[in-house]
Amino acid sequence: MSGRDELLGGDTGDEEDDDSRREEVDLTESSDPAVSLAASLDNQREEGDEVGLRPAVLDDFVGQPQLKETLRVILGAAKKRNRPADHLLFAGPPGLGKTTLAHIAANEMGAELHITSGPALERPGDLASILNQLEEGDVLFIDEIHRLSRAVEEVLYPAMEDFRVDIVLGKGPAARSIPLPVSPFTLVGATTRVGLLTGPLRDRFGLETRLDYYEADDLQSIVLRAAGILDVDIDEAGALEIAGRSRGTPRIANRLLRQVRDFSDVDRDGVIDLRVAKDGLAFFGVDDRGLDKPSRNLLESVCVRFEGGPVGLKTLAISVSEPTETVEDVYEPYLIQQGFLMRTPQGRVATAAAWKHLGLVAPNAAAKPAQPLELFDQE
Ligand SMILES: Nc1ncnc2c1ncn2[C@@H]1O[C@H](COP(=O)(O)OP(=O)(O)OP(=O)(O)O)[C@@H](O)[C@H]1O
Ligand SMILES: [Mg+2]
Repeated sequence: MSGRDELLGGDTGDEEDDDSRREEVDLTESSDPAVSLAASLDNQREEGDEVGLRPAVLDDFVGQPQLKETLRVILGAAKKRNRPADHLLFAGPPGLGKTTLAHIAANEMGAELHITSGPALERPGDLASILNQLEEGDVLFIDEIHRLSRAVEEVLYPAMEDFRVDIVLGKGPAARSIPLPVSPFTLVGATTRVGLLTGPLRDRFGLETRLDYYEADDLQSIVLRAAGILDVDIDEAGALEIAGRSRGTPRIANRLLRQVRDFSDVDRDGVIDLRVAKDGLAFFGVDDRGLDKPSRNLLESVCVRFEGGPVGLKTLAISVSEPTETVEDVYEPYLIQQGFLMRTPQGRVATAAAWKHLGLVAPNAAAKPAQPLELFDQE
């Protein structure tokens, strides 16, 4: 380990007190997480033409009328006064528009957007370096903000509150803290797990909003808008069918539209009506409640393999070969919202609706009260 690493409180082996250790903020070294994250996000999520589908202004953002109105006032006032808007926090399941809103916030204020994420900011210096580069009125977007380490989070507090970074020089009793001004900026945080955010961080946001699943009519508008951009021939009924099976999620609506378009181009005449939408969605394994193969596998696993539960999250995740985080953040919220799955202190439990949806008979429905006791006694 180099002397510098030691100074930074880096790889010392005793990680327990890592969070509480005061780290020197090193402005000279940073792996530029903003750039690397933007690239990786592009690869992971913005497959193909999704980038072109992202609404750039508030007027094009479909649904969430109350949130739009609030943002219109906050962003409009900031622009009028030529001051950065209050810090904004967007929470909610994946694909509902958190990143989109960060882009829109910057666009509406005519500000430059800097993108990074909780896991990309490994050291306090990484964040301090980004903060140092901000110009007045810029927007800093931190995705997955619940994954910031404590040490990095502590750099954020004075930056959010007083537009200041405290550089700590030295260690122990001789340590000195030098305040460094940061240009006034707007922080936009996004999280799929608002419950994991610490109180002090949450308190520093001027606006905290929770995005919820979209209704079918909003998703239909999103599908029709995307179809216009992608030059896809679709009628209202076809768009509504896709919307209804999108699990309340704009990203899924856009994905299903592209899949049905492919199906229609190859197997049909290229026009998406109700019939083509139904056939296309069935072809890609999306059922009438919008559950795709992985979601159904998960539900089936709880019902069949674990006899309806309760089953612990880790065991369930292993049984479907997915990371626990994916199960918790991606699959479960919609299954719970739809009343297929319950979270209990003992673990995940399938509801009667889940058995019914999978075409299975729930054990307690099978074991009718009138059934003779001997049946069980014989076993
Ligand atoms: N309200 C909306 N109107 C129109 N399109 C939307 C809306 N919300 C989201 N979208 C579309 O869905 C896509 C996914 O949205 P976005 O990337 O903002 O989700 P997210 O909440 O950041 O998801 P994640 O948690 O996975 O990062 C966008 O590219 C955009 O095309
Ligand atoms: Mg996002």
